[in-house]
Amino acid sequence: MTLTQKFATRADRMKASEIRELLKLLDQPDIISFAGGIPDPGLFPVARFQQAMTDALSDGRHAQSLQYSTSEGYLPLRDWIAGEMGKLGIACTPDNILITSGSQQALDYLGKLFLSPGDTALVGWPTYLGALGAFNAYEPQFDRLDANANRSAGDYADTAAQNGGQVKLAYLSVDFANPTGATLARHERENVLDLAEQLDCAVIEDAAYQALRYDGDAIPPILALELARKGDIELCRTIYCGSFSKTLSPGLRVGWVCAAQVVISQLVLEKQAGDLHTPTLNQMAVAAVAADGFDAHVAQVRAVYKTRRDRMLAALKRHMPDGVDWTRPEGGMFIWLTLPPALDGATLLDQAITTERVAFVPGAAFYADGSGRNTLRLSFSNSAAADIDTGIERLGRVIRKALQG
Ligand SMILES: Cc1ncc(COP(=O)(O)O)c(C=O)c1O
Repeated sequence: MTLTQKFATRADRMKASEIRELLKLLDQPDIISFAGGIPDPGLFPVARFQQAMTDALSDGRHAQSLQYSTSEGYLPLRDWIAGEMGKLGIACTPDNILITSGSQQALDYLGKLFLSPGDTALVGWPTYLGALGAFNAYEPQFDRLDANANRSAGDYADTAAQNGGQVKLAYLSVDFANPTGATLARHERENVLDLAEQLDCAVIEDAAYQALRYDGDAIPPILALELARKGDIELCRTIYCGSFSKTLSPGLRVGWVCAAQVVISQLVLEKQAGDLHTPTLNQMAVAAVAADGFDAHVAQVRAVYKTRRDRMLAALKRHMPDGVDWTRPEGGMFIWLTLPPALDGATLLDQAITTERVAFVPGAAFYADGSGRNTLRLSFSNSAAADIDTGIERLGRVIRKALQG
């Protein structure tokens, strides 16, 4: 069979996600897994979704809920989202909102929109693996985004030109990033905006975890900071990608893009060509559940995850040997460990699964250049307190043993 030789050049760059492959191995009940960054299904608002779905199928509403609909998305949902964006300091209308099938689809569509082969995407080192995967299909170069203004726009532009293209976009998650849990300070957000202005490129602001803040004060999204400078979303280069996956349900695949209409209308054309629209029934259900008590529901989710974060931080303090460092996230689902340089996360995972039955994600996968071998990601969102204590104790033992060589 020679079909593989007929695959397009982009296929060479598509690799199986280490996380997805790993998740397949972690079904065994005796493994404590901190690998998958998934919500706790116990927190899904099941009864309310049941009611919302029933309503959307009753009294003739099936003619809408089971029918084809517009690519832009269900208007009452776009309306509600525009209101929520307003609360974040982003004045906009439903015409600035496109509903996507999860924010992952938005990343794919934005890669398709901006990146020609050889163009440069600026990303964090490390960054969300799914963003690297989404952009990679469009055959870009990756360069390291520095939010501390240590590198000039000219330097970025020269590097991109040497690689045969231009810097087209800077991608980042400013709140409780996947994988590090880190949050960008306000001045760092302003720096990124300054850099994008000088490079005349798009800023893709991934806000997947934005609602999950457990302590500290909220910092305005980059799009809000840009709007404060320019006074009109139509003048903004920042494209905000939101999601209901971490607050309501990831399985329904409902996310959104908020941006200037020139961007939205182009993405609508991609959506028409891609999947026509996000499932209408799901959008109607999300609209109904969000409209009624969204903040109270998210407060519940935050309370549970905050307890788990605190539990994991306390366990790390008890069980990690000297030389291991970790982040203290103000929200989200992840804690990021940096091990002594001699250790390798992938080798450690092998040992951790076979000897101690505990799992995590080795960090190198999150680096566009494959570095970061001595790092790993832990997720606390879907683990019971006792498992967090036991799992981190086991992890401490594996690391100690590896350090002893
Ligand atoms: C940073 C980040 N962005 C985007 C996504 C995609 O989420 P979804 O497509 O479910 O909205 C994820 C999922 O884990 C994520 O961690």
